[in-house]
Amino acid sequence: MGTGSAVTGVRRWQGHPFALWVADMDFNCHPAIRKAMEKRLAHQIYGYSLKDPAYLPALISWYRRRHQWEIQEPWVLTTPGVVPAVNYIIQRFSQPGDKVLIQTPVYYPFARSILNNGRQVADNPLKIEGGHFQMDFNDLTEKVKDPRVKLAILCSPHNPVGRVWTREELDTFGRICIENRVLVIADEIHCDLVMPGFKHVCFAAISDTFAHHSITCLAASKTFNLAGLHQSSIIVPDPVLRRELHAQLENLGFVDADGGTCSGPWPRPPPTIRPSPGWRT
Ligand SMILES: Cc1ncc(COP(=O)(O)O)c(C=O)c1O
Repeated sequence: MGTGSAVTGVRRWQGHPFALWVADMDFNCHPAIRKAMEKRLAHQIYGYSLKDPAYLPALISWYRRRHQWEIQEPWVLTTPGVVPAVNYIIQRFSQPGDKVLIQTPVYYPFARSILNNGRQVADNPLKIEGGHFQMDFNDLTEKVKDPRVKLAILCSPHNPVGRVWTREELDTFGRICIENRVLVIADEIHCDLVMPGFKHVCFAAISDTFAHHSITCLAASKTFNLAGLHQSSIIVPDPVLRRELHAQLENLGFVDADGGTCSGPWPRPPPTIRPSPGWRT
């Protein structure tokens, strides 16, 4: 019987001895992960599951220790992947015809998610300066002046160019977006895969203002090679943004998207996004 593994099955079968792509590694996963999965498998009842009470403390501890970001439990929503989350955010926080800014060359599903949802791509291409990819802040400033730009997707660290954005770069990017009321989607899925000598800075940890104008997408999938488990943590510090995204997840049929902590009902979401001074609607 086939394993269904993309990296060791299909790719190798197509003649590549090692796929060696960044998103899906050829390495076995850590024995602790295998042990936990074997324990769950041995239980033999695969009905509806509750979220493990260790999940949120583990997530919070990881980001505190590794990235000096104090995530609060209520901020965490869960989705079956970062790409799904990007789609849900686009759906909830923009309207068909609006624009979503990306910095090409970038992970191709971003553009696909924008276009599939009937939105337009606002491209702020990276430029090469001094042998490095850099953000083009002059172009960014021009692009976000367009009132149709509602969202900006930050890929940090950047796939595929491999840049670990500095605090200064993130600060400039964030200030330009926020001054123009553009909500930032920070995809930080690769934050643990950083070369020695470099430091990932979490966008939302830079300031309270950045935290309240961003939604950060995290997952253990790249760090621990677990993409097939389809689990990601979406960090939404702002309560209004969180309620909106939670409502979107409910609309899509996710009944327990709150990270397992909030069993009480959320306040009824408004039928449309409430005008807010914080971001464009
Ligand atoms: C920048 C980036 N975001 C998201 C993903 C995929 O995330 P998920 O499998 O959770 O949808 C990848 C996978 O390569 C990626 O490189």
